[in-house]
Amino acid sequence: MFIILLQIFRMEAVVTALVTIFTSLVIAVLYVQYCYSYWKRRNVPYLDPHFPLGNHHTMFPKGISIGNISRQFYQEFKNRGVKLGGVYMGLQPQLVVTDPLLAKNVLITDYQHFDDRGIYKTKSAPITVNIFAQAGAEWKNARSKFTPTFTVAKMKTMFDTVRTCSEIMEQHLLKTVEEDCSKDIDILETMACFTTDVIGAVIFGIQCNSFKYHDAEFRKMGRDLFEEFHYIDGLKLFLTQYFPRLSDFLGVSNIQKGVTEFFTNSVKEAVEYREKAGVKRQDFLQTLIDLRSQGKLTLDEVIGQAFLFFAAGFETSSNAGTMCLYELALQQDLQDKVRANVNSILNKYNGEVTYDTLNEMKYLNQVFEGEGF
Ligand code: HEM
Repeated sequence: MFIILLQIFRMEAVVTALVTIFTSLVIAVLYVQYCYSYWKRRNVPYLDPHFPLGNHHTMFPKGISIGNISRQFYQEFKNRGVKLGGVYMGLQPQLVVTDPLLAKNVLITDYQHFDDRGIYKTKSAPITVNIFAQAGAEWKNARSKFTPTFTVAKMKTMFDTVRTCSEIMEQHLLKTVEEDCSKDIDILETMACFTTDVIGAVIFGIQCNSFKYHDAEFRKMGRDLFEEFHYIDGLKLFLTQYFPRLSDFLGVSNIQKGVTEFFTNSVKEAVEYREKAGVKRQDFLQTLIDLRSQGKLTLDEVIGQAFLFFAAGFETSSNAGTMCLYELALQQDLQDKVRANVNSILNKYNGEVTYDTLNEMKYLNQVFEGEGF
């Protein structure tokens, strides 16, 4: 009798488990189908998605980068002759705009409807909560606090710091050439050291010494953040990009542990030191510290925003500088023209590089912005 009861009980448990699994599967399939009907429901031309990566399935096994995947989307819709189209990144819908006028509307005229870059953030890792990832009212609120930081007057005060860093780079290059002029110069690394020094000085008010020490802390953090990914970090990045809601629920961070610890501790120590010693500096961190003392930012917010300015400032600028120099190396005539333009303006100001001298170098600016190529 006891054995029969046990068997009935076991069978009931198995049936319940099977029904639960089946129902969950049906709900999951319906949910995925609903997510993947987003563009169809809106009558927007779209590319057929493949679960689980949506239209990003070409990432595996071929390892096509997000940049190239986006280019393929653009080309596909352009070939179809449509001004916009829909794709999916994981389960999230993404709009691809192929018409420059529409793109301008998205970025400028109608930006209030497109105020979310879709960058991952999670409250479980305060370093991920910053102006680049914030959206809507939260972004507007943060943005209004930082805008006064980037006035022309403030830029001019930063200029001396930038010039000092460029002199250090110049000395480094001269020394390298003097030692062995046949040696190749890694220009990406040179630019990365330069922009790390600049960002370290204007944002954190510290001398990074990236040229002096190969393993200088801030330069190392830059490498860790953008170049050196361990398997587990890559997996986390993938999860947060393709399944942000699940990642947020699980508290997954897209910033490596070591980088998070470094910036969290550096900012905390700097804030504590300046507050205790009553020290005030002319850097962006000071703006954040002042906002904190006015009750407008928490310490976690100071950490997140300071980190973002490092990440957004150094890598973008070093890549832009590298690409510009690369193009100039390929096109000697443009290089000669830039050089002549720079020298003629320098001669006018007795060789002194100032904020205004630099602003007068219109052709250099055009080349940097890619207009001349
Ligand atoms: C050549 C260098 C740079 C390039 C190509 C670049 C590129 C970009 C792009 C494409 C965006 C997004 C714009 C948008 O969504 O409309 C952005 C935003 C941002 N960048 Fe840069 N950037 C550069 C340098 C810098 C530097 C030096 C800093 C700071 C020190 C910086 C800080 C930021 C911040 C804070 C945002 C977010 C602004 C906001 O949400 O209001 N960037 N950048």
